[in-house]
Amino acid sequence: MPEQAKKYAVFNNKGGVGKSTIAVHIAYGLALKGEKVLLIDMDEQNDASLFLGFTSEDFAKSFYDLLTGQSICLSECIISARDNLDLLSATHIDRINEKLYKENDIRCFFSHKLQAIEPLGYNYVIIDCGPQRSKINDAVLHFVDGIIVPVQAEAASVKAIGNIYEYLSDLGLDDSMIAMVVPNMFDQRTTDGKENLEFITEFFEDTNIVTPPILRRIKITECGKLGQTVYEYDEDAAMHFEHLVERLVSINGRTK
Ligand SMILES: Nc1ncnc2c1ncn2[C@@H]1O[C@H](COP(=O)(O)OP(=O)(O)O)[C@@H](O)[C@H]1O
Ligand SMILES: [Mg+2]
Repeated sequence: MPEQAKKYAVFNNKGGVGKSTIAVHIAYGLALKGEKVLLIDMDEQNDASLFLGFTSEDFAKSFYDLLTGQSICLSECIISARDNLDLLSATHIDRINEKLYKENDIRCFFSHKLQAIEPLGYNYVIIDCGPQRSKINDAVLHFVDGIIVPVQAEAASVKAIGNIYEYLSDLGLDDSMIAMVVPNMFDQRTTDGKENLEFITEFFEDTNIVTPPILRRIKITECGKLGQTVYEYDEDAAMHFEHLVERLVSINGRTK
């Protein structure tokens, strides 16, 4: 029996903080290390898919079809995005949310609906979440082993850090699920950037979950628009994501 996949959600209540960027780069960085990865794009914007160069037209079927179709199997909904990296995209997020509202207990919803993942031998499942509280995010957070929280190093984003703790507590989940807090779009040239990074570091000073910051880099913005990762586009910028990937591998005690 293959080992169960380690499952991580990339989540923050706020939009535009780098969730999709970080989800894609962690997923691809792991794949480059020889880990078999499934990236699930659970946001209606489908940015994670777009950042890898895929549009909804590339998917004959999506997670939504899996939930509603009678005899649709998971492998029909998954596409190969890169070597070792598969992609499952979710369309009709609003309808999935509606469906979840009718479920009595959503805690096992994904582990039940996605049980066909386990025999496929993935080492990691990375889920790119949409922002804000939603039924679908409730269900995702119940499904995963850990959460990766990108925090944009700017004032509003930093102030919102507490919301995620409140959300986990409302769901009855332990905040030890937060595996990494990733300061993103850090601009070391500005006082504001430095102060915000200091605040993040102080907020989490009793833990070791804050990673080194990812700098704001135009190459990171550009590559997303081109449907490429920085690993393929700009090696220097790729180094920013490498420490996240290494930390995940070390948390999970696997070396290849
Ligand atoms: N470190 C960074 N430097 C420059 N641009 C970034 C960085 N991280 C993310 N971006 C860009 O910022 C925008 C928002 O990022 P995205 O990952 O889509 O955020 P979210 O998924 O939280 O909404 C995108 O255009 C993305 O390319
Ligand atoms: Mg996103």
